[in-house]
Amino acid sequence: MSTHEIIAIDGPAASGKSTVGRLLAKELDYRFLDTGAMYRALTVACMRDGIDWADSGAVIACCRAAKITLVPGPQADRVLLDGEDVTHRVREPEVTARIHRLADQAAVRQLMVVKQREVAHAAPTVAVGRDMGTIVFQDARFKFYLDASEEVRATRRRAELEAAGESVDRQAMIEAIRRRDMQDMGRAIAPLKVADNAEVVDTSQLTIPQVVALLAEKIRGTID
Ligand code: DC
Repeated sequence: MSTHEIIAIDGPAASGKSTVGRLLAKELDYRFLDTGAMYRALTVACMRDGIDWADSGAVIACCRAAKITLVPGPQADRVLLDGEDVTHRVREPEVTARIHRLADQAAVRQLMVVKQREVAHAAPTVAVGRDMGTIVFQDARFKFYLDASEEVRATRRRAELEAAGESVDRQAMIEAIRRRDMQDMGRAIAPLKVADNAEVVDTSQLTIPQVVALLAEKIRGTID
């Protein structure tokens, strides 16, 4: 399997990359790999085991022992941690707020990189995350960086939460997005940035189907 069958999509929180990636994978009949869900599941494992975040050896040992399974589904993947369904748990704000405690650690990222490459080299894959084009799949033939303004991303995230019955103050949402951006872009190892040769797509003014169509067109245009 050569790496040209990997489509790497990176971008900040709420840029639409997971929704777009899932639909694009469906359209191309590729596998979908949501690497954010993997970091989320590891965070749940450390919280479950009461790991002290300051003890990096314990964090790494817990991550190494955790068995994460992503079960593909039509609307969303189910996330299993050691056989337990943590699909909803991984999205809880207290989990989101702690992910950087392990995502900042080189040894944890190295574990994830190995797993992500295993998955993607087994079948054509659309992989989404923060370091797909820069680190994990540097040789991917197609690299996209989805972006959108802070305001648009905060509005989208609020709409998602409202649909789930939660209400969040708009300003608080913008600040949460800003904090995530700083953590994702500011970390020493594998920071979020535009990969060499990646195409930047600003989705602020586009609908999800428009972004999917645009990416599919670019991929098919290059293949044909
Ligand atoms: O895509 P997401 O919001 O579910 O990702 C959650 C966090 O996981 C993100 O803020 C940083 C981390 N992450 C990462 O460090 N590297 C990735 N490839 C994917 C996610």
